[in-house]
Amino acid sequence: MAKFVITPKMSWYEGLIFKLKKKMIFDQTEFLIEQFLSDSSQTFGFDYTLVNMGGFFRLLNHDRTELVKILSPQELERFEKFSLPKKKLQWLAGRYTIKKALQKRKWFSQKVPDFNRIDVLSCESSAPYLPQFPNLRISITHSFPYCIGVVSQHAIGVDLEKIMELSGSLINQYFHPNEIKSLTEKAETEDYRTQTIIYWTRKEAVSKLLKLGLKMDFQQIDTADDSVLCKDYSPSRIRLISSRMIDYCLSLAVEEEQLISDLLNP
Ligand SMILES: CC(C)(COP(=O)(O)OP(=O)(O)OC[C@H]1O[C@@H](n2cnc3c(N)ncnc32)[C@H](O)[C@@H]1OP(=O)(O)O)[C@@H](O)C(=O)NCCC(=O)NCCS
Repeated sequence: MAKFVITPKMSWYEGLIFKLKKKMIFDQTEFLIEQFLSDSSQTFGFDYTLVNMGGFFRLLNHDRTELVKILSPQELERFEKFSLPKKKLQWLAGRYTIKKALQKRKWFSQKVPDFNRIDVLSCESSAPYLPQFPNLRISITHSFPYCIGVVSQHAIGVDLEKIMELSGSLINQYFHPNEIKSLTEKAETEDYRTQTIIYWTRKEAVSKLLKLGLKMDFQQIDTADDSVLCKDYSPSRIRLISSRMIDYCLSLAVEEEQLISDLLNP
């Protein structure tokens, strides 16, 4: 895993090399995420936008003229209520990615209005939705510095996480016995940490597809298989696709029955 630490003893030259290497890793990760989303969007028929949230920093404090071009009045009101700059940044990037993805919809006959005339609101469970496009499903994920927004005609969930160590108690609390079994087989290998985060992102993506968030019983959902049935929550099977991109893992959850019906009735 790529690990960079600036130490006080670094010369300006070493500092520069450090920064360049870090940028290269981020650029490469962005490229791999983009590639994964591009391939998956062709298979599963959704639209997406990936952004580096760093580009939105300047909009937080200064350029309000640009901000009002992106956010609707209702969104702007919500935006102003966040006190943490990080939350503001994530929220703003999330609205932007969805609106940009909406603009890409090639088979969509309805004209997409200006960004500030589209609302990306949150329902009671915090799931995002588009009041002006009630037939479309959307999902958002942020993991600094990346933010992804997906738009689909079918139920969809997306989750991106940086690879990190999950504690044994967390794994026992949230993971299904089949996932734990598969992890045990990988214990002490390079794949262990990656696989834990792949499962984690799969569960989060399913919880977003089902609009449940933390209300979902994460332990009950077995994501060790690429096709999962969440009997208590939905009659449809859910297809899971995941990939590792250097220090990150990304998963998509897509309603399977809808995919089959699309294939039968193109
Ligand atoms: C909110 C949650 C759905 C995902 O959070 P997360 O992975 O930490 O954060 P992400 O950046 O990937 O996703 C945040 C987005 O999820 C979406 N979201 C929140 N609640 C949602 C819900 N009930 N349904 C669908 N989407 C939801 C929102 O769009 C949010 O972005 P926004 O605030 O800009 O609109 C939830 O599962 C959570 O808080 N998880 C915390 C970690 C945890 O305990 N996980 C156990 C998994 S094994």
